[in-house]
Amino acid sequence: MPIYTRCIQPQSIDPKLFTNREGEYRHLKDVLKGIILAKEEEERRLLIYGERGMGKSILLRKVISHLKQEIDFICVIIDGRTSENAEDLLRDICEKLASQLRAEYRGEEKAISEISYLDEVSRVGTITRSWARSTATEIENKKGAEIGLLSFFKLSFGVGGKETEVEEEIKTTGTEINSRFLRQLLSSVIKTVSSDRAKEVVIAIDGLDQIHSKNQIAEFVREIFKHKESLIIAALRSEAITVEFSRSFRESVVIKDLSEDALMDILDKRMENCPEKDLLDKKLIPIADKLKPITGNPLSFLTWIHFLCTNSELSPATLLNDLKEFILHSYSLDPEKVSRISKFFLTKDNPFLAREEILDQAKISEGDYEVLTENGILVPDDLYNPQKYSLSPDFAFFKLDL
Ligand SMILES: Nc1ncnc2c1ncn2[C@@H]1O[C@H](COP(=O)(O)OP(=O)(O)OP(=O)(O)O)[C@@H](O)[C@H]1O
Ligand SMILES: [Mg+2]
Repeated sequence: MPIYTRCIQPQSIDPKLFTNREGEYRHLKDVLKGIILAKEEEERRLLIYGERGMGKSILLRKVISHLKQEIDFICVIIDGRTSENAEDLLRDICEKLASQLRAEYRGEEKAISEISYLDEVSRVGTITRSWARSTATEIENKKGAEIGLLSFFKLSFGVGGKETEVEEEIKTTGTEINSRFLRQLLSSVIKTVSSDRAKEVVIAIDGLDQIHSKNQIAEFVREIFKHKESLIIAALRSEAITVEFSRSFRESVVIKDLSEDALMDILDKRMENCPEKDLLDKKLIPIADKLKPITGNPLSFLTWIHFLCTNSELSPATLLNDLKEFILHSYSLDPEKVSRISKFFLTKDNPFLAREEILDQAKISEGDYEVLTENGILVPDDLYNPQKYSLSPDFAFFKLDL
């Protein structure tokens, strides 16, 4: 009988599940702390990169949550997976920043009013001058600290002074809330808040490579970096790092393979309070012992284990066949074809190979090659201009069959 369990959570980035990775944890925390405290420096940016599923997201969240106990700063974390394009990312930053600022400015009437408009602006397509004028008047009538939205409205819409006849005529003309507008609004808010509160505002963009419109990643980086004062952390998969990208970030941290012990620590932590712990302890350990030497990727390790728990008898004897089922189940592809290409890459130590080499040597059809690249079984060296491909870590389990 399969053991239905919710404890393995291959996709979770809950910092409470974090274990181990002492070296990277301390290094990233030190680098980030240094950047946050280097207030006089311009262009404070940190790049975190590594293979898919290596643990960038959970490490980033863990480090930020711990660092917040040491130094005071405002941090907004957004996730590229939920955004269509660059503009969406900026809207997401506005919305999350508004929610952080609500706690920061509790009880401050004027700021709270500005914050609710920051939130509102993040959701609308256009605003009219007349709306901006009435909003500005409403905010101005309140007391207390400002967050920079009012001053931005005054500057961009020329509102705040006496209304002229010409303005009266154009007041219903809409202004598009596009990337440029949002970026400038964010600049104004971040600048005001960080000087008013004497706190740095950190924007962490996790999975920047995961936005739908990949061609907008570079544009987004260029856009957001026009604001020199803001402190930006971006976490991306290695294949999304271009030369231009590396040049934009002075500091970078790479997240590499985990050791066998570290993988077991990750699993143990997930089983700590698991209702099925006793059963899993008995049946899972022999399986985990077989899987841990063949991968350093925690996502693949946990994904296999989760699949095996809920779909197999957890028997070491049938492990390979059970995992072949995982291909059908998760990728809907012919396990035999995937087996052939996987073993081909694994016998060569999984290097990056050019299309021709793969077609020639692995003896697969052009059609199959397209399917393998489209489904992420073959991972490009460069997301925008792929020249070579290597095998996704999810298929390293074919090492059991070499
Ligand atoms: N040090 C760790 N402690 C506990 N769990 C970990 C650790 N590192 C990674 N994991 C787990 O491995 C899985 C993948 O981690 P994560 O999502 O952080 O990877 P990622 O590098 O951000 O991947 P992607 O490139 O797909 O965004 C998650 O379930 C996460 O909880
Ligand atoms: Mg991630």
